Amino acid sequence: MPVRPFHTSSVQYIFQGNGVLATWWRRCSSEMRIRGSLVLLMHVLLCLVSGAYSGRTSSYVRNEFPSDDIPLEHESLAVPNGHNAPQQVHITQGDYDGKAVIISWVTALEPTRSEVFYGEQEKHYDRKAKGRMTNYTFYDYRSGYIHHCLVDSLEYNTKYYYKIGTGDSAREFWFQTPPAIDPDAPYTFGIIGDLGQTFNSLSTLQHYVKSGGQSVLYVGDLSYADKYEDNDGGRWDSWGRLVERSTAYQPWIWNSGNHEIEYMPDLGETSTFKPYLHRYATPYLASKSNSPMWYAVRRASAHIIVLSSYSPFVKFTPQYKWLKKELKRVDREETPWLIVLMHVPMYSSNDAHYMEGESMRVAFEEWFIKYDVDLVFAGHVHAYERSHRVSNVDYKVTSGSRYPVPDESAPVYITVGDGGNTEGLASRFNDPQPDYSAFRKASYGHSTLQLKNRTHAVYQWHRNDDGKHVLADKVVFHNQLEERPCVATGPH
Ligand SMILES: [Fe+2]
Repeated sequence: MPVRPFHTSSVQYIFQGNGVLATWWRRCSSEMRIRGSLVLLMHVLLCLVSGAYSGRTSSYVRNEFPSDDIPLEHESLAVPNGHNAPQQVHITQGDYDGKAVIISWVTALEPTRSEVFYGEQEKHYDRKAKGRMTNYTFYDYRSGYIHHCLVDSLEYNTKYYYKIGTGDSAREFWFQTPPAIDPDAPYTFGIIGDLGQTFNSLSTLQHYVKSGGQSVLYVGDLSYADKYEDNDGGRWDSWGRLVERSTAYQPWIWNSGNHEIEYMPDLGETSTFKPYLHRYATPYLASKSNSPMWYAVRRASAHIIVLSSYSPFVKFTPQYKWLKKELKRVDREETPWLIVLMHVPMYSSNDAHYMEGESMRVAFEEWFIKYDVDLVFAGHVHAYERSHRVSNVDYKVTSGSRYPVPDESAPVYITVGDGGNTEGLASRFNDPQPDYSAFRKASYGHSTLQLKNRTHAVYQWHRNDDGKHVLADKVVFHNQLEERPCVATGPH
């Protein structure tokens, strides 16, 4: 039976665009060409039909955003107008109880006075605070002039306006102080980690600033400047400009990650955390820490403990000794919510960085249970995961009891390493999902924690894989002391 001829030019183009198919196209007869073309057309039609079907039935179709860093000329990284104008403005809590802030900024071209003018009325700056200035070099990069200024003796629950810089280069911002330390003081934290500076990072930030969050608990890995060949210190500057839309207006409680270590002996850089420590001040002395890498703050109804995953923490180290004392200082009558931040998660079922938090779990998990820690937030793994309340404190090398067990006295462990950096998502999880894992998803996003009163908090995870804001996980947490009225007395 003769095969009816049909127009094959477009199919011929597809075939000729491929080396192997082009060879076949040249060698085969016209009938074979027509049959081959029909097979290809059928395949294309089937793909179209199945694609349309899955688009209707799938609840979520992810669009791939580029994971490259935002180009330096993009408006989101723009240098502010005015000669040597202050840039990369960021504030953090400046004391133990929230009546002070540290205001930091960079002047790129010249040293200037480290002065902040501030007051309770817009454009009326009746007070002035003086700070200090620093800078550093890193291989072939020379930083701008980094200013840190403590503004203290503030009133609670008050909006302050502040100005830095002078003349045409002056810039103005504002911040709101938290309520006084009170067990029923409502307060909303954002939780962000591993942010970087891609368009996914920008999406996370844009969604966070609309979330109602009043302060960010940051769980480490900031700029990812170390991802550049020979390290690109300029990417620390662009990151500071990217996040300024939030950091200039509310305190971010800083913590470091592995991308802040920047130990690069091949470049002659052997002091660890050099850019991070120059740029991001923490109020560590107020909590009697001897290092800006680990410290604690109290804010509204929360006591927040910041631990450094990449600083020594085994028995007898300064961080270990400090944490032991800090846990004794926690007064749950004043701050019923006890929250710990670290970079490397102690419980994660993602293939990426699996078990990397085990050494800190061995060191501190027993204390977290004894002291009724409510929540432990971590980053590092570029995905989202929330655990059930579990513990593995019975595990000893010889006990054989090595599997985590349900434990109502244990914290909930939450990984929020999904800010959106250039390394992309960690999408491979252990299969099957282990019992300790309550919810997990490899998507970009951020979390919010609304402390309602001394007993209840509303926790939410917001994902933004495709640039859209979607509420993807929501839990009402009961305070640990409400469930277990017995208060622990001290670490072992
Ligand atoms: Fe990390």
